[in-house]
Amino acid sequence: AWQGTQAVPADPILGLVAAFKADAAPRKVNLAQGAFRTDEGLPLVLPSVVEAERRVSSALASGAIDKEYLPIEGDATFRTLSAKLIFGDESAALAEGRCATLQTLSGTGAVSVAAAALCRMAGARTIHVPDPSWGNHGHIFRSAGLEVQNYAYLDHRTGTTLDFDGMRAALSGLPRGSVVLLHACAHNPTGIDPSGEQWQELAALFAGRGLVALFDSAYQGYASGDLDADAASVRAFEAAGVLPVACQSYAKSLGLYGERIGAVNFVCASREEAEAVLSTVKQTIVRPAYSSPPLHGARLAAEALAPSTASVSAPAGGSTPLSPRRQVLGDAALFAQWRGELRGMANRVHRMRVLLADALRAEGAPSPDGGDWGHVVDQIGMFAYTGLSASHVDSLRERRHVYLTRDGRMSMAAMKPADIEYVARAVRSVLAE
Ligand code: LMR
Repeated sequence: AWQGTQAVPADPILGLVAAFKADAAPRKVNLAQGAFRTDEGLPLVLPSVVEAERRVSSALASGAIDKEYLPIEGDATFRTLSAKLIFGDESAALAEGRCATLQTLSGTGAVSVAAAALCRMAGARTIHVPDPSWGNHGHIFRSAGLEVQNYAYLDHRTGTTLDFDGMRAALSGLPRGSVVLLHACAHNPTGIDPSGEQWQELAALFAGRGLVALFDSAYQGYASGDLDADAASVRAFEAAGVLPVACQSYAKSLGLYGERIGAVNFVCASREEAEAVLSTVKQTIVRPAYSSPPLHGARLAAEALAPSTASVSAPAGGSTPLSPRRQVLGDAALFAQWRGELRGMANRVHRMRVLLADALRAEGAPSPDGGDWGHVVDQIGMFAYTGLSASHVDSLRERRHVYLTRDGRMSMAAMKPADIEYVARAVRSVLAE
């Protein structure tokens, strides 16, 4: 059956992680993937998540909860809290019950379900994606049957700033009903976001031209350390009446990488429309693909995300949000602890940016944009978009065993202080070649 199958090249991000693991060099540095590391270079299980694990384990041991299947749409409490986290307390869509939220297999699963829904239910044929975007976006959209077109985002003249005029002009020229992907915050790979004012302008543009906004929110809390500030783009669109689709990942913000916890939210015109969208996505997209999402990570997330479960209203469709057999109640203290840990992670990444920029200047490495490496400090989220070319990146990997994606994206979240000088020296040497 498989004679005609040709091997394809490894994934541009995950393939590098495998190559790094196989690299036998005594000194090597993996800055290829967006995964948080401590100052010691180790993966971090958040203390708030450890506490959530403890509560869940004890509830399991006492028989208060079990390991039955979740419903197709996922855990009701998690869905409610997740929607509230991104749309906020003032959301009209949540107050009016017109947001259809499904728990998904992390951010990739959320974008995948959204893509399938846009293609099969909303008749979309094309999606407009920023140039550049996360390497997996194109694969997800094409495999859902959408044609992928780019719109201007990065200013290719500098390589390190936003081309807002180009972006606005490109989006203004799209036909009504066009679907546009936006990164809610901490754009991956560039680490460059529109300003608050520019988001307001985009929201008005989308409302005026009837564009469909698909937000990918994989880094809420990482851009500024503040969960609300990092959701301002999505909230501005909702307030402008755009009816956004918002995809969420808890891989980075809760450090639940391998638990595959995320959500997709379809803001609709009415409660009836939200019920119809939820039931159709459940029956025609999720059930045939994987039946229902994973339970354990949703419980952990629901623990940490619960500021005050009493104030949470039920999402469209599905069961009551707080079923005692499923849910160990979270509390305000754990939520506050998590927010503090998130700020700590965001601060650590920022500290690495400052240290690296200082080290590059001290080495006398010429910044590819002609500046003084200020962009490494100014960009936000997990990544620095260094401006290094693919051949610089290849040379860094082959000669210095420093791993970046070939677009010059460097994971500052994976950097440790002990590697700063080595990396700065390696960058200087490849720039001098
Ligand atoms: C990244 O961009 O490095 C992360 O989102 C991990 C991934 O799956 O690509």
